[in-house]
Amino acid sequence: MRFDGKAALVTGAGNGIGAAIASRLACGGASVLCVNCDEQALARMVETVHQDGGLAIAYVADVPIHQEVKEAVALAVARFGSLHLAVNNAGIGGSAAPLAEQGLEDWHRVLNVNLNGVFYGMKYQIPAILASGGGVIVNIASMWAHHGMRGRAHYTASKLGVMGLTRAAAADYAGQQIRINTVCPGVIDTPLARSGGNETEEIAEMIPAGRIGRAEEVAVVVAFLLSDEASYVTASEYDVDGGILH
Ligand SMILES: NC(=O)c1ccc[n+]([C@@H]2O[C@H](COP(=O)([O-])OP(=O)(O)OC[C@H]3O[C@@H](n4cnc5c(N)ncnc54)[C@H](O)[C@@H]3O)[C@@H](O)[C@H]2O)c1
Repeated sequence: MRFDGKAALVTGAGNGIGAAIASRLACGGASVLCVNCDEQALARMVETVHQDGGLAIAYVADVPIHQEVKEAVALAVARFGSLHLAVNNAGIGGSAAPLAEQGLEDWHRVLNVNLNGVFYGMKYQIPAILASGGGVIVNIASMWAHHGMRGRAHYTASKLGVMGLTRAAAADYAGQQIRINTVCPGVIDTPLARSGGNETEEIAEMIPAGRIGRAEEVAVVVAFLLSDEASYVTASEYDVDGGILH
């Protein structure tokens, strides 16, 4: 899949799934604005893209701060002249605790990053994409949008929220040359998943594919949805989970 001449923005591009998506787009010829709150991870990722001959620009931003998300979109348009593709991927897991023991601060942080961050992303990306003649957005949810994750009510609520937000936004803009879809990863080998420790290994045993997934295996599905090949796909959810939701 080629993305020559396309301008893209990926949040949470410093590590894991976001880094794999941004690399894939840049390798496919897109100009990519890589957004992340971790400056060092972002710098390493962008340097790797440059070494591979791709075009990527780093922008440090915290996605629950809407002004920073707005500025990221403005920078993409200023540097690339347009915006065609956006991936709202930045997300956090929060602390594990039964609902009644969850701290208010943790609840608000998870919802702010995982749900409000996606809303702010689309709020500012959509006008820029409309002004560029149309494009595609992919939002990253989780297999835990389909099931309640024990000890992570905030995470499950945020990811189910991403799915609803995506469906409604897709309906709003389907007639205006913007497609919007959700991708739901299963257990993918990234810093976020590894922070789950033994839990990750236990879950891996339940996966029909017999292993946890790689970030690149999510990135290729995202790339398909961003490509013109997926021209009639909108308001959909794609599971990339090795069959765990069988
Ligand atoms: N890895 C998995 O098993 C898995 C499964 C399902 C869903 N997901 C989702 O995929 C997405 C990516 O996860 P990952 O596993 O690659 O995580 P990761 O922690 O490896 O990478 C996420 C990146 O997002 C950045 N980030 C976090 N909060 C941010 C913020 N407020 N503003 C800007 N950047 C921020 C981090 O610094 C990091 O670089 C997340 O939305 C996550 O919920 C991951």
